[in-house]
Amino acid sequence: MASTDGQKPLRALRSGPLKGTIRPPGDKSISHRSLMLGALAVGETTIDGLLEGGDILSTAAAMRSFGATVTQEKPGSWRVKGLGVGGLIEPDGVIDYGNAGTGVRLAMGLAGSHSFATTFTGDASLVKRPMGRILEPLRRMGIQAIARSEDRLPLTIKGPDVPVPIEYKLAVASAQVKSAILLAALNTPGTTTVIEPVATRDHTERMLAAFGAGISTKIGEDGAKTIALDGRIDLKPQAIAVPGDPSSAAFAIVAALIVEGSDVLVENILLNPTRIGLIDTLTEMGADLSVDNRRVVGGEEVGDIRVRSSKLRGVVVPPARAPSMIDEYPVLAIAAAFAEGETKMDGVGELRVKESDRIATMVAGLTANGVRTTEGPETLTVHGGDRVPGGGTVATALDHRIAMSFLVLGLAAENPVTIDDASPIATSFPEFREQMRTLGAAFEEAGIG
Ligand code: S3P
Repeated sequence: MASTDGQKPLRALRSGPLKGTIRPPGDKSISHRSLMLGALAVGETTIDGLLEGGDILSTAAAMRSFGATVTQEKPGSWRVKGLGVGGLIEPDGVIDYGNAGTGVRLAMGLAGSHSFATTFTGDASLVKRPMGRILEPLRRMGIQAIARSEDRLPLTIKGPDVPVPIEYKLAVASAQVKSAILLAALNTPGTTTVIEPVATRDHTERMLAAFGAGISTKIGEDGAKTIALDGRIDLKPQAIAVPGDPSSAAFAIVAALIVEGSDVLVENILLNPTRIGLIDTLTEMGADLSVDNRRVVGGEEVGDIRVRSSKLRGVVVPPARAPSMIDEYPVLAIAAAFAEGETKMDGVGELRVKESDRIATMVAGLTANGVRTTEGPETLTVHGGDRVPGGGTVATALDHRIAMSFLVLGLAAENPVTIDDASPIATSFPEFREQMRTLGAAFEEAGIG
């Protein structure tokens, strides 16, 4: 029984009722942005509850390469001494962003409006992902970019002395593209405008306002959001409290729904309306979910989510909901495997360009575990039922969310489910195994023959 070099196979076993309380780690999107805006503020930003996953450690290392002082005071508590807007310095070496798509794309915007060259690269997953969606608006701002074919990493960008403000309508509903432009706009004279026809997560706008940037937003009659940012205004350091990541909470929530007799409390979860599409969808499916203790932490709504195992039914998830749950479709597909009838996820083409082609990896993994699916270029349908045979081995393709989703499947399937590599989980949720174990989830190290 051997595995491929460096891979850590792991098996999830059918488990008893899941019971107890967990507190998932800090939100990944907010964690990246806290370090980046901290690096541009004049003075010292403190961050509490920072996610210490691989993706965020890549951003911490990148900000150090740009000259900011980034230190961990104690687990979860960090300090960033910023350099001021336009004050980043040219890195000595290549910035290797590992698996972090959000990190590298936002950092391209951040560095892009500085008149020095930065070369970025990443792991075998990240070098396959499209970067043209970021380079296209940055090029319009006068930033030069040389990339591998189809605008893939590794790539080098170099800003002009004076970047040009643009008005840009997003062609893809992507918070990463919106944020890269806004971060570049910070060091661009004049007003840069981004028009977002479909709402995506708004953490960048909220945080820029808190740091004192010259930002304003308005919603048009057609529902489109226009964000205007005046560049070259100093940012004031902040004390940031990062709420728990709803995308990480999703694994415990779905596990509790599908493992019979479960009753779990998931504490301190971000409830930003641009992030909770999964909660709405699971509720439509008949999930017994309630949100208690709603409060505001660091300008974001937060609450505790109580979940009890439930009989689920299939639903159609509309395309308009995709941006508010884009990272949750893999685990929704696991819930759908246990739901009565079919669950159709429409308008999810973006899943094909995430850490893996998530439509393809979910179809392969579900098929290997006896669950019927139908896929289209932009759709995924899961044909659910009471019985999920399990017993399969799943290729995680360097994708943390695929890894965790199939471990969740194994907790309720009839036979154990094996993933070929658990190491990607550390990019976003290093404590996943331990936290799930405290609820009663059973995992064992596995060899793959
Ligand atoms: C993120 C935006 C999303 C999401 C990613 C985090 C962000 O990507 O999938 O995990 O923090 O801005 P897109 O905006 O490209 O859809």
